[in-house]
Amino acid sequence: MSKRTAVCVPEQEIEEQREIMRKIANLNEGKVRRYSIHTFGCQLNENDSEKLGGMLAGMGYEETDDFDKSDIIIFNTCCVRENAEQKVFGHLGRLKMLKDQKGDNLVLAVCGCMMQQQEIVDYIMNTYRHVDIIFGTHNLHKFPEMLYKKLINNEKVFDVIDTDGYIAEGLPIQRKDSVKAWVTIMYGCNNFCSYCIVPYVRGRERSRSVNEIVNEVKMLAQQDYKEITLLGQNVNSYGKDLPDMTTFPMLLEKLNGIDGIKRIRFMTSHPKDLSDELIRVMRECDKIAPHLHLPIQSGSTRILQSMNRKYTKEQYLELVDKLRANIPGIALTTDIIVGFPDESEEDFEETLDVVNRVRFDSAYTFLFSRRAGTPAAKSDKQVPDEVKKARFDRLLELQNRISREINETYLNRTCEILVEGISKTNPHMLTGRTGTNKIVNFEGPSNLKGNLIKVKIIDAKTWHLVGKLLK
Ligand code: SAH
Ligand code: SF4
Ligand code: F3S
Repeated sequence: MSKRTAVCVPEQEIEEQREIMRKIANLNEGKVRRYSIHTFGCQLNENDSEKLGGMLAGMGYEETDDFDKSDIIIFNTCCVRENAEQKVFGHLGRLKMLKDQKGDNLVLAVCGCMMQQQEIVDYIMNTYRHVDIIFGTHNLHKFPEMLYKKLINNEKVFDVIDTDGYIAEGLPIQRKDSVKAWVTIMYGCNNFCSYCIVPYVRGRERSRSVNEIVNEVKMLAQQDYKEITLLGQNVNSYGKDLPDMTTFPMLLEKLNGIDGIKRIRFMTSHPKDLSDELIRVMRECDKIAPHLHLPIQSGSTRILQSMNRKYTKEQYLELVDKLRANIPGIALTTDIIVGFPDESEEDFEETLDVVNRVRFDSAYTFLFSRRAGTPAAKSDKQVPDEVKKARFDRLLELQNRISREINETYLNRTCEILVEGISKTNPHMLTGRTGTNKIVNFEGPSNLKGNLIKVKIIDAKTWHLVGKLLK
């Protein structure tokens, strides 16, 4: 296969968008204009929404989470599982009334992964005629132009393209957090796991240049960000398409040298591509957090094969041993799909066996969802819903017990945590995370936000720890 290198959207095209942003900002001058973005799906989608937020801020819009007060509502969609899609349809249906009331004073836009499927776009155009703008994942940078057409010419804009070779740099960004930042390092996926829709809606793998990433992280450090999370569907294949052949571990070493950044995280790592070099770099670079999200998907080698995951149960377990031998105390988290076509009770027990042996710190568990267009959706050996659900509950019970037991081992230990701010669940407490990604709530002065501090763990729950600030 010939090597494809991603091409940056020409600076001139980005400048055209900036020009349109200035025009809309002029139109909005002196008026209060608001937007809300509702994001479904993974961190890559969240990061895309931050870019949309940046463009909207540049056009004079303020953020709100109140639909009634919004002049623009955007749904950034996900299609990885059916329930993510259903939620979007539910929201679109409910917004009909608001749109009827507000008419042209409300712009309703839908974008993201669902829109890269023609049949979904057709369905939305026919069923939810109150939608004004539809665009996909490959032309997000053209949002100002689409909005302008709607605002000035009152046109509906449906613009989805299949071309996936481009990367848009230099877009403004409005980040959700002021301590931690997401940095997308690559787009797309080449792996075609047989259940997964992502490669079809996000296109082939393409890596941002090392310079662009380093500059973004330096900028984040200047803005006082302390933690970065590098994002990609499989960060281990970062750089394979770059002319200079920079690898992911090489990128990590560069980023580790940037002053001001205190912690580096990344996700996701495909087990088949996790190199010894990455393990070495994780061990040696002081800022890389001792945590790895390493989706296993299933513990049965037979099912893994039919998932096209390209590793066996034994290879995964060996990898875990190697990680633990080289990076003592490393936390491991995973993703598991329950009820993949033809999964037998024995296959499922293999999954339970791996969970028992590895003892993951936590696991995202999913019921297999049929995604049209993927090989697994066509299988005539679908597992009945009630069997899936019963297995799911057994897995969840086991994993919750293990998560709690691991959290209990933290009791009375002193941990270093990065303080993220006020706890969302308890406004009287601050919250932070250990390097191993455990949430720790504790009482303390709010000016600790953004600092690495020491706490003693005094209570352990399934999903979080409680700490006491050490003076
Ligand atoms: N690129 C990442 C994650 C992709 S999507 C990786 O390879 O791990 C996040 C998770 O959603 C996957 O790890 C998988 O567990 C789950 N998932 C993907 N497609 C699914 C489907 N059709 N049904 C159920 N879960 C699915
Ligand atoms: Fe989907 Fe597999 Fe790619 Fe992850 S690696 S995005 S699960 S196809
Ligand atoms: Fe969903 Fe798209 Fe992410 S399908 S999981 S939002 S890449």
